[in-house]
Amino acid sequence: MNLDLFSVKLNAALSLVAADTLVNVLTGAGENTLLALVASVPPVLTALESFNGTLFAPTDAALAATVAAGFNASDLTALANVLEYHAAPGTPFSGVGFTGSAFLTTLQGNPVEAVPVSSGIQIHSAFGTPAANVVKSLPYDGGYIHVIDQTLIPPANIVDVATTANLTSLFSALTTAGLASTVAGLSNVTILAPTNAAFAAIASVAATLTVDQLKIILLTHVVPGIVYSTDVITAKSLSNVATLSSATLDIEFNGTNVLISAADNKSPATVVAADVLADKIVVHVIDTVLLPNLSAPTTTAVYAAPSNVYSSALSMFGGISVAAAVSLIL
Ligand SMILES: *[C@@H]1O[C@H](CO)[C@@H](O)[C@H](O)[C@H]1NC(C)=O
Ligand SMILES: *[C@@H]1O[C@H](CO)[C@@H](O)[C@H](O)[C@H]1NC(C)=O
Ligand SMILES: *[C@@H]1O[C@H](CO)[C@@H](O)[C@H](O)[C@H]1NC(C)=O
Ligand SMILES: *[C@@H]1O[C@H](CO)[C@@H](O)[C@H](O)[C@H]1NC(C)=O
Ligand SMILES: *[C@@H]1O[C@H](CO)[C@@H](O)[C@H](O)[C@H]1NC(C)=O
Ligand SMILES: *[C@@H]1O[C@H](CO)[C@@H](O)[C@H](O)[C@H]1NC(C)=O
Repeated sequence: MNLDLFSVKLNAALSLVAADTLVNVLTGAGENTLLALVASVPPVLTALESFNGTLFAPTDAALAATVAAGFNASDLTALANVLEYHAAPGTPFSGVGFTGSAFLTTLQGNPVEAVPVSSGIQIHSAFGTPAANVVKSLPYDGGYIHVIDQTLIPPANIVDVATTANLTSLFSALTTAGLASTVAGLSNVTILAPTNAAFAAIASVAATLTVDQLKIILLTHVVPGIVYSTDVITAKSLSNVATLSSATLDIEFNGTNVLISAADNKSPATVVAADVLADKIVVHVIDTVLLPNLSAPTTTAVYAAPSNVYSSALSMFGGISVAAAVSLIL
């Protein structure tokens, strides 16, 4: 066998693959269901024809399993939502040489999380859905296609995530404080969600709180903007992190855990489940309820306004702009 000739042909084949279009590379990969589904939603097909970035391509078997599990591929709105969640524009993610997690924002608006594991790379999507394994990575002329063995499911809304994650005490407290629908309508925020055990541990304190004090406490658990655990790990510590109450938080990575402190906590809360993805929200489950300093003048001054004014300001900002909402309250 002529090895030189073989390697010339191999190199030619490789560079040809690398220079080929997304559609041609996908076709060459022999996974046809994704392309067929994309072709049934013309705007998605158009977007992918000139797409640069990272495409996660579920195998035929993965997509068949999703349909068998009840996904209605004839519902083109739902289909477009799922397909757009597989395409992350911007700097192509090769999957090579990354540590920690990488969060890639998709055309659907929510991120997927890529995690290096001993067997390769896993992609995490909606909370409670199985992680997808990258089974093959292929370059195309605008980036990379990663063939995966599970369909990625866009994150559910925060209420469904709280239910699936058993965050029932948090939800009850939000309801008691009249904040449940407000929180359900938020986007672009990070929620620090105490476990049921964390709420049980402050039951005697909670019994003495006024509704306004409970509101302050709960709003101290919502940070404007998206903060991933990797942001904290990279920064090592973040001081005076703003929340939707006037209280601030100190967040620290101590080498193994992410710890979060509020003024009245004797010891910081530890993140026990990081980066739970909800629709336009990231949730970190914590083992301690964050207790701001309810005696601090700035904390109470904010709530000097009549509580009905405060509530209506809050209900106005559901789903729109947290920045505007905060300026309304403060
Ligand atoms: C993708 O990149 C190519 C080459 O740089 C460019 O011509 C094209 O406009 C880009 N497509 C999009 C949607 O940005
Ligand atoms: C699937 O979606 C299509 C289009 O929205 C709809 O007509 C059909 O009834 C749906 N099928 C099921 C089983 O829900
Ligand atoms: C939620 O609670 C149920 C029942 O206690 C348990 O089976 C399930 O594993 C819990 N789920 C999570 C995500 O903790
Ligand atoms: C999300 O919130 C952060 C912090 O308030 C803000 O800087 C950013 O512009 C917001 N992003 C979007 C898309 O609204
Ligand atoms: C980091 O915090 C966790 C939780 O409080 C603790 O168990 C661990 O020992 C701490 N690690 C270091 C290096 O301080
Ligand atoms: C809480 O605020 C009060 C009033 O400003 C102050 O005296 C006290 O030291 C603060 N406590 C903590 C733990 O920061």
